[in-house]
Amino acid sequence: MSEYIVRADLLGKSFPGPKRGEENIVFESVNFRLKRGEFVTCIGHSGCGKSTILNILAGLEKPTSGGVLVDGKEVDGPGLDRAVVFQNHSLLPWLSAQDNVDFAVRAKWPEWTEKHVEEHSRRYLSLASLTEGLDRKPHALSGGMRQRVGIARAFALETEVLLMDEPFGALDALTRGSIQDELIKIWSDTRKTVFMITHDVDEAILLSDRIFLMTNGPKANIAEAVVVDIPRPRNRGDIIHYPGYYDIRNHIIDFLVQRSKELSGSVRTVPVEEIKTAGKLVYPPDVNPLNGAIENGSERKLA
Ligand SMILES: Nc1ncnc2c1ncn2[C@@H]1O[C@H](COP(=O)(O)OP(=O)(O)OP(=O)(O)O)[C@@H](O)[C@H]1O
Ligand SMILES: [Mg+2]
Repeated sequence: MSEYIVRADLLGKSFPGPKRGEENIVFESVNFRLKRGEFVTCIGHSGCGKSTILNILAGLEKPTSGGVLVDGKEVDGPGLDRAVVFQNHSLLPWLSAQDNVDFAVRAKWPEWTEKHVEEHSRRYLSLASLTEGLDRKPHALSGGMRQRVGIARAFALETEVLLMDEPFGALDALTRGSIQDELIKIWSDTRKTVFMITHDVDEAILLSDRIFLMTNGPKANIAEAVVVDIPRPRNRGDIIHYPGYYDIRNHIIDFLVQRSKELSGSVRTVPVEEIKTAGKLVYPPDVNPLNGAIENGSERKLA
């Protein structure tokens, strides 16, 4: 079994431009590897192509060039090996919270009894801190509860890979905080591979093993993968006191403010050697850092 569950090689995507014969090249050579059980977030300016990458991983969009392997199998459409959570929950409005999860579970395991399906769903709903209001339909749930149902539904499918496109984007800061906690809990319990898009730097540091930084489009790229070497379990209150926290944070902010523009448009945006000697835990996304280091949590600062 390969250590990498997801491989994206030379991914390119273009859309027809506004004028006839014109092309909008969103990206033309995106390469990365996700390790089994890894939590990776992706940050970049609006319109750079984050959702396009996620949709290609989900099989909802076809790349113009290159391809994605999940567990060695080429992605050519949506599949039961991947679950997706979107910003706008995408629950079925005519079904209750419990039924929304049951429905997905039943589709995956049609041979299960009703009781088995319900118990399975309930386990994931309660991991997402949903024990009440399960008979309510989405319109009667708060935004936070809807996202929790969406997350419970995705994890209940027990796919190896979870794809989340700004799942907390529409929530207020307090609700967002508590759902982040639940996401950490549910991910720690299941150790699935997560690829998540966010605009929130602190959220990315709290959740991630690595953070992909994308340059601006057109011809965007994932220029760097920042390793978050803060030990787990992490919690929102303490994490900011970790000695490396602000190094990581400043590095990302600097990227977003400055380098995401400067590096835009080139294929291999930063030479490997330059990144490795930058004194930070930063690598190209297709060079997986320090094999095994994430698991044993050993110190691995670069000189
Ligand atoms: N179906 C489409 N047809 C034409 N162009 C598209 C289509 N989908 C996306 N694009 C273009 O591709 C580029 C990347 O879009 P994408 O939605 O991936 O960006 P994003 O990084 O997710 O942005 P945001 O942070 O705002 O969600 C944009 O220029 C967008 O206009
Ligand atoms: Mg998007």
